[in-house]
Amino acid sequence: MESIFQELIDRALKARGSAYTPYSKFPVGAALLTEDEKIYTGCNIENTSLGLSICAERVAIFKAVSDGFRSFKAIAVICDNIAPCAPCGACRQVMMEFSPDMEVIMVNLQDNIKIKKAKELLPDVFKR
Ligand code: THU
Repeated sequence: MESIFQELIDRALKARGSAYTPYSKFPVGAALLTEDEKIYTGCNIENTSLGLSICAERVAIFKAVSDGFRSFKAIAVICDNIAPCAPCGACRQVMMEFSPDMEVIMVNLQDNIKIKKAKELLPDVFKR
């Protein structure tokens, strides 16, 4: 595995520490690598009005987009799950909006790792 991917995993794990998850008690961390190799991190942030909660991946992507970055090489996602942490459908759609070829590095706390491209995670994506 590329060493930059390991750095993304380390940064995602650190970002997970900032997760605000009083309702689910399920913290998730993400770290996004832009085309020019800048790293943006994110964590899930929940709300008492549960539908307002946002996933770690979208926080990282929206932080980067709001800074002017729209092209991404990879994103690492980590959570405490049996399987490597797979992004939800909404986050997959957002990944596809910007970078269908980006590598999605799915990890759990046991360091099980699965890597797939965003476009493999959301085939037949909605487009117009
Ligand atoms: N969550 C993420 O942050 N990313 C995912 O890919 C899946 C789910 C969050 C949403 C919610 O705050 C918590 O995990 C439990 O579903």
